[in-house]
Amino acid sequence: MTGQVRGVQLARLLGQWHALPGRRRSPDYAALAGTVRGLLADGRLPLGVRLPAERELAEALRISRTTVTAAYRQLRETGHLASRRGAGSWTMLPGNHRVASTGLWTPLDDREMLDLGVAALAAPPQLLSAARAATEDLPRYLSGAGYHPTGIVELREAVADTYTARGLPTSADQIMVTSGTQHALDLVLRLALTPGGNVLVESPTYPNALAALAGRRARIATHGLAADAGWEPDLLLGSLRQTRPKLAYLIPEFQNPTGHLMPASLRERVVAAAHAVGTDLIIDESFVDLPMDGTELPPPVATYDRHSRVISIGGMSKPYWGGLRIGWVRASAPQVQRLAAVRVGVDMASPVLDQLVAVHLLADADAIVADRRVQLAVQRDALLGALAHRLPEWRVTVPRGGVTLWAELDGPVSSALARAAEEVGVRLAPGPRFGLDGTLERFLRLPFTLPAADLVEAVGRIAAIRYDLDRAAGQRWREPAVIA
Ligand SMILES: Cc1ncc(COP(=O)(O)O)c(C=O)c1O
Repeated sequence: MTGQVRGVQLARLLGQWHALPGRRRSPDYAALAGTVRGLLADGRLPLGVRLPAERELAEALRISRTTVTAAYRQLRETGHLASRRGAGSWTMLPGNHRVASTGLWTPLDDREMLDLGVAALAAPPQLLSAARAATEDLPRYLSGAGYHPTGIVELREAVADTYTARGLPTSADQIMVTSGTQHALDLVLRLALTPGGNVLVESPTYPNALAALAGRRARIATHGLAADAGWEPDLLLGSLRQTRPKLAYLIPEFQNPTGHLMPASLRERVVAAAHAVGTDLIIDESFVDLPMDGTELPPPVATYDRHSRVISIGGMSKPYWGGLRIGWVRASAPQVQRLAAVRVGVDMASPVLDQLVAVHLLADADAIVADRRVQLAVQRDALLGALAHRLPEWRVTVPRGGVTLWAELDGPVSSALARAAEEVGVRLAPGPRFGLDGTLERFLRLPFTLPAADLVEAVGRIAAIRYDLDRAAGQRWREPAVIA
């Protein structure tokens, strides 16, 4: 339990809950419960806080106590509230899922929900055969203890080869296998950042990177990306020179969430500027395997590095499967050794079996990744088509790769839209999730990782509530003001 929310505070957070779009046929208690769930889902109402007593909330909302009682009962039934007689009721998520204070929520196992909050594909069909082949390989490892803090050598070699193939000669001792890219980021931060150190990030950026930085108590400065053009070279280099951060965290390939690709010229200038001011660059290459439309990739950022300033991180989650939990760091061999020393205090090593699955998937990379790109291009186009048809006022820059697009809405309604969308079975990641200060309300990240038909259905539902939001606002506007 982290605290208590008073009736008037919750009433303020709940806002226009009774006029929530999409609820036309649902009773008041269900609308109230639904709005509380929406607040929980987007992190505005924290987990583990005590809600006001039923009577207190009823007074604050000027509704009957029975409505609040019924809403709390429904929240208990859906797993959003835990109550103990005499002690009160605390917020929670079903199945004990967590919402990071600055990150995206973790996926809920709600099969009815069209989940556009998570930007990741289902597993490719080749995963099962890779898993079977991995179990055949396992006996080779069983006579050892199974701890490989930098990863099993065959996976490190396979990953090193992918860098070499991209024009960046890399040896296995420059690779450390981690349990996902997020883990790679966390380990690098532990190594390279003392608590309170300053870090430059893009805005918008990947929310769970912000969560990792918050975990290291970083002081964060931002470089704002232009919605249509991405990085503004002079501003980015100026920020590096002025703030001289200890670290900068950048996503140059199909940036999450905007989808932008950093040009080669800027890569070179960023590395030079970072070296000049003593900044280490963490380059997140999560989406590097997923260009579309024949887009040529610029050289890896580390190509321009002569002074071990660049630490690249990447992983299997986006091109292959998030459930595999395989990522890596590419750095200098001494840095990899230092990371391994940090790691023994965290999780020792990654699972051998999963690493073997990764080896088999990488052996089949060309075929798997080619299929993924085709699939993503089809889904992206379906999403773009549905948006153009149903929400023509929204502006989108067509991403040439990756898995997300960043829509500029027709008003600052992203969080309100996300809350209302929950009610019609669509989970959204509103713009403020991707920034630091609650701004970005005019933006919404839309991933194209669901099947095309689901994306079209989701956009239809979003469009319906978008127009309802306006109607609800319009109705409020027209209400005569009472002067007493
Ligand atoms: C930019 C970026 N970095 C890291 C991650 C986390 O990846 P992983 O599942 O490999 O930990 C993601 C996942 O969405 C991402 O978009």
